[in-house]
Amino acid sequence: MLKQIQNTASLILDRTGFTPEIGIILGSGLGGLVDDIDIKAALDYKDIPGFPVSTVEGHKGRLIFGVLGGKKVVAMQGRFHYYEGYTPQQVVFPVRVMKYLGIRRLFVSNAAGGINPDFGVGDLMVITDHINLIPNPLIGTNIAELGERFPDMSEAYDNGMRTLADKIAAEQNITLRHGVYVGGTGPTFETPAEYRYFRNIGGDAVGMSTTPEVIAARHMSIPVFGISVITNSGLSGVKSTHEEVQREGNKAAKLMAALITKMIKAI
Ligand code: HPA
Repeated sequence: MLKQIQNTASLILDRTGFTPEIGIILGSGLGGLVDDIDIKAALDYKDIPGFPVSTVEGHKGRLIFGVLGGKKVVAMQGRFHYYEGYTPQQVVFPVRVMKYLGIRRLFVSNAAGGINPDFGVGDLMVITDHINLIPNPLIGTNIAELGERFPDMSEAYDNGMRTLADKIAAEQNITLRHGVYVGGTGPTFETPAEYRYFRNIGGDAVGMSTTPEVIAARHMSIPVFGISVITNSGLSGVKSTHEEVQREGNKAAKLMAALITKMIKAI
């Protein structure tokens, strides 16, 4: 596994000659941030050995290398989900490759259903913590070169980056929510009882991604900033659809892109 991670990273470095310092994972309908990147190179996932191919509509499946906010970034336009049938280890493979490309920080975004009654569709929620309900990607033999057997998760989402987000949002008049992200397997949206259950166990938003990648990043001691776009409400009793998630994601994605770009500039 480690060999494969290293091989893929060196192959990418050979092809792009690019050494990013920041990694970005763009979720459902949130790929618009790519428009703000001064792109130097791009690779389709299907051309990267070891990368699974994304099967979800609206996920482009490209690794993008370029400059954002004056920093060298690598951005995943589209990610891999457990519900697509990939193993948890396949889901986090790109994050591990990014580590070997040289990233020092990771920005993760997703579309999520709001379960905090104060949240509205289109809100941005800074992830303060998570509850992972997807099989843990670290199950199995520990790869000691990546990190320790029992990684600490007391600050899964970096305090400093969260404070920076709040400061920039205040300056830019962007309203930010804060809350706990519940990572479920999907692919079903939740039943009303499940949304209530996730609320009751301490969640503010629920989605089908992010927690595996954050676990893998923290295993490798990479500081993480996570943000959810609330694309639908789990508490309204209204049906959730993939189209709704994409449409609302697109709208809020512009604000999210502005925030992330300013944060990267300030780091
Ligand atoms: N549930 C799970 N995942 C989601 C949702 C939701 O309501 N909205 C966007 N992703």
